[in-house]
Amino acid sequence: MGRVARGRRWTCRGGTRLSDILDGQPADPARLAEIYDLEHDAIGEDLVFYREMSRRAPGATVDLGCGSGRLFASMLAGGASRIVGVDGSAALLDRARQRIERDPALTRARDAGLIELVHADVRSVRRPDRFGLAVLAGVLPHLDGPEDAVRALGAARRLLARDGMLVIDTIGPGGLPREDLPLSVDWEREDGVRRIVRRSQIERREAPEGLRVRYVTMTDLVGRDGTIARLPAEFRLWYPSPRALVGLAASADLIVEAAYGSHDLDPPGDGSERCILMLRPDPGI
Ligand SMILES: C[S@@+](CC[C@H](N)C(=O)[O-])C[C@H]1O[C@@H](n2cnc3c(N)ncnc32)[C@H](O)[C@@H]1O
Repeated sequence: MGRVARGRRWTCRGGTRLSDILDGQPADPARLAEIYDLEHDAIGEDLVFYREMSRRAPGATVDLGCGSGRLFASMLAGGASRIVGVDGSAALLDRARQRIERDPALTRARDAGLIELVHADVRSVRRPDRFGLAVLAGVLPHLDGPEDAVRALGAARRLLARDGMLVIDTIGPGGLPREDLPLSVDWEREDGVRRIVRRSQIERREAPEGLRVRYVTMTDLVGRDGTIARLPAEFRLWYPSPRALVGLAASADLIVEAAYGSHDLDPPGDGSERCILMLRPDPGI
């Protein structure tokens, strides 16, 4: 799942089962979650952006589809008074617990009752409390299409305080694959005890509701003794156009306050690597 090299940046943020992207895979979810961390922890270019979002939308933050909690430290550094991380994957939430344990600032916040992890589906999550900031980073492509996206956006809107803000962050038109990519090596790493080799293959299909992508990964863990543990996985992803995403947000009674094409707040365009929308609840509803 992560960013795959091959000369350009590609982020896979998708899943075969809607609420737990790792549970239905042929490989052990805990090992896939470990590889997920290895890949996603290498992504740092959005961390300043999320720190600034937490400053801009103060109060409690809900990180919808938080994965292993990659964004928690930035949110805390930006002044989030409390963080609720919601995810459908039990294995990724376990990794989030381990991350909290490793990071003194996160451990302190957890011990003070300021970090909560919730195993739930972003399409239906409900809580009694309200949030200044809700984040859906890399999550919408995991959903099955527009209907599920409107459900998730509606659930996020219901979690917002009256003046709260929802950030949707997904791959922009310039970051999407333009053609099928054959099975090939994305990256290789040594971690002291083993060599990790990641291969992947991409099949794309233009559909009326957006780009559908089948992303097949194969990760080999090669031990010192030459034994190989192979972790296969497959993800079905969906990428609506930015314009379609704005329409889906309107269907969920959300108003676009700003749109960006990168985490550096560049204006959006056809070549943008990211599609980022900042949304507020429609006050007329
Ligand atoms: C690519 S990860 C992004 C994680 C995190 N937001 C980040 O930026 O590092 C997408 C996350 O969405 C979660 N997810 C996908 N569909 C979900 C659903 N229906 N309900 C809850 N979580 C979901 C996955 O488990 C995964 O952790």
